[in-house]
Parts: sequence; structure tokens; C-alpha cells
Amino acid sequence: MCPAEVPPDDTSRRRLCALDDIPPGGAREFKVGEGDWPLRGFLVRDGDSVHAWLNRCPHAGHALNLRPDEFHAPDGKLLICRSHGAQFDPATGRCVTGPCTGASLRRIRIELVAGEVCLGAGPDILAPIG
Ligand code: FES
Repeated sequence: MCPAEVPPDDTSRRRLCALDDIPPGGAREFKVGEGDWPLRGFLVRDGDSVHAWLNRCPHAGHALNLRPDEFHAPDGKLLICRSHGAQFDPATGRCVTGPCTGASLRRIRIELVAGEVCLGAGPDILAPIG
């Protein structure tokens, strides 16, 4: 289980939610940090695993969603940016159609520990690009 008490400036292994808080095939937003510019991300459940993405479209930098926790295209499979319609593979983050085809969402490092979704340990929240 992730540590319950983590200093605000220490993002190592910070708990985001329980895996079961994310509906099967659904998504859930989260933010890290306070103030005007917290890091905003979202989790996408994939069976018993989960992917975490920065909520920033590689096309023009907008948040992907307009409504809370709504990231999936109408087909329920791909993720969609509501600004200009780019669609992304939820497992790889790769844009498969739209104005930024071939670009990728930025992955956020997480760990799944005993059914709890936590930020990855260490100071680098974002996974390396590539
Ligand atoms: S900002 Fe996402 S498709 Fe344009």
C-alpha cells in the first residue's frame, strides 16, 4: 500500500486512487500539486492494469477532455481530444488519427501496488519521451 501521509512536495509513491475507483474501460482525472499550475493527468483502466497520461494534447496543448473523467471516443476504445478530434491508443498514447497523427501523449510514471494506483517513486513524474 502507498504511504498515506506524503509531504506535499514529495511526490514519491503518492497515492492517486484505488484501481477499483476507475470503472472498467473508463478513466479518472487527477492532479499533482497545488496553485495555478498543478500537473493534470488521467488514468485509463485496462483490465487489471492502468495507464497514466498527462492531460495535454500534443497538437495544441489543450486538455483532452471537456467533462470530468470523459476521455474516450464514442467507440469506447480510443481516447479523444475534444478540441480538434485527435484520437489516441489508450495503451501506447500514440495518436492514430487527427491533426497530430504519430505524436504521443506523455506518460506519467505510476505503480500499481496492492490495488492502489500511486505515482512512481522518485522525482521524475513524467516518463522519458519515446
Ligand atoms: S488540441 Fe488536441 S486535437 Fe487539437
